[in-house]
Amino acid sequence: MKFSNIATFLFSTALSFVLAQQTVQSGSSTNAVISQYGSTFKNAGGSVLHDKVNVYIIFYGNWSSTESQHEQTIFMDFIDNISSSPWFSLLKQYTDNNGKAVTGPLNLAAAVNDAGSHSLNLTNTIHKQIVLDAVNSGFLSPINRLDSNGIYVIMGGPDVSDNDFCKVNCGYNGFSDEFQYMFIGYPGICPDICIPSANKASSPNNSPAIDAAITIFSHELQDILTDPRGNGWEIQTSNVTVELGDFCSGQGTSSDQFGNITQSSVGSYNIEVNNRKYLVQTVLDLSTQQCKLG
Ligand SMILES: *[C@@H]1O[C@H](CO)[C@@H](O)[C@H](O)[C@H]1NC(C)=O
Ligand SMILES: *[C@@H]1O[C@H](CO)[C@@H](O)[C@H](O)[C@H]1NC(C)=O
Ligand SMILES: *[C@@H]1O[C@H](CO)[C@@H](O)[C@H](O)[C@H]1NC(C)=O
Ligand SMILES: *[C@@H]1O[C@H](CO)[C@@H](O)[C@H](O)[C@H]1NC(C)=O
Ligand SMILES: *[C@@H]1O[C@H](CO)[C@@H](O)[C@H](O)[C@H]1NC(C)=O
Repeated sequence: MKFSNIATFLFSTALSFVLAQQTVQSGSSTNAVISQYGSTFKNAGGSVLHDKVNVYIIFYGNWSSTESQHEQTIFMDFIDNISSSPWFSLLKQYTDNNGKAVTGPLNLAAAVNDAGSHSLNLTNTIHKQIVLDAVNSGFLSPINRLDSNGIYVIMGGPDVSDNDFCKVNCGYNGFSDEFQYMFIGYPGICPDICIPSANKASSPNNSPAIDAAITIFSHELQDILTDPRGNGWEIQTSNVTVELGDFCSGQGTSSDQFGNITQSSVGSYNIEVNNRKYLVQTVLDLSTQQCKLG
C-alpha cells in the first residue's frame, strides 16, 4: 500500500479566498502543478475503474443523531446522482492503455454503520481492516466478497480521530491487492483545515461538514477512478506523487480548484445535480490543460 501525502493534501493554501460578487469567473491561467506535470501526465499502464462502479460506504463512529442521519442522506444522494453530471463526464477522457475508459455510473451499492469496531482513534494501517471486517459482516455485500472494481469509502463521524486527518490530509485514497478505498474524516472536527472558507458558516445542503466531505470526495474520486492501484494515471518522482485530483486541488488558486462559484444565502456551490447544489473540485481537462467543471 502506498500513501501519497502531498497528493491528497487538500485545501492547504487556497481557502482564505473571499467571494466578492455573486459569480466568480474563473480565468484560464495554468497553475503550477499543471505547468510542471500536465504535459507528461499519462497512464503508466494500470487499469482504471470502468463500467458500473459499486460504491460501499462505511459510516464509522457515531452517526446516530437525527442531524447525522440527515448528513448520511446528503452524502449518499450525491454519490447516487453525480455520474449523470457534466462534471463526471470530464472523467470519461481517462482511459487505460487498451482504451477502456472511466464510464461510470457510480452505483451506491450499500452503506453500513460501524460504531467504532477498531476504536475511535484510527491510524491509516487500520483502514483496510475496517473495510475487510465490513465486507465479512455480510451487511455490505450480499455475496460477502470483495468487489475489486468497487470503491470502499470509510466516512469518519464527528467522534473519530485519525493520525493523519486534520494534520496531513482531510481524506486520502489507498488500495490493497484486492480493492481500493478512501478515508474521509469528519470535516467539522477541524473546520479551518477541512471546510472551504466559503461554506464554513452555511453550506448548500445546510451542513458545512458534510458539504465539505463531498468536496473532499470529489477529489478522492478523481484519484481512485483513474489510479485505483497506484499504477494508472499517476506521476511518481522521488519526492512527490501526482494523481488526477492533485492538478486542480488547493495547490493552485481557488478559481482553479472550484471554477465558477455561485454564492447564495445558503453558501457557495459550483454544480447542481437533480436540484441539489454542491461545491466540487474541478477536473483537469487533458486537451486544454485546464481545470474544468464540465
Ligand atoms: C452519539 O452522539 C449523540 C449526540 O449526537 C449522543 O447523544 C450519544 O450518546 C452518542 N452515542 C454514543 C454511543 O456515544
Ligand atoms: C438522487 O438524489 C435524490 C435527492 O437529491 C434522491 O431522492 C435520490 O434517491 C438520489 N438517487 C437517485 C438515483 O436519483
Ligand atoms: C490516538 O492515538 C495516537 C497514537 O496513534 C496517540 O498519540 C493519541 O494520544 C491518541 N489519542 C487519543 C484521543 O486517544
Ligand atoms: C522535490 O524535489 C525537487 C528537487 O529536489 C524540488 O525542486 C521540489 O521542490 C520537491 N518537491 C516537493 C513537493 O517537495
Ligand atoms: C467559467 O465561466 C467562463 C465564462 O462563462 C468560462 O469561460 C469558463 O470556462 C468557466 N470556468 C469553469 C471552470 O467552468
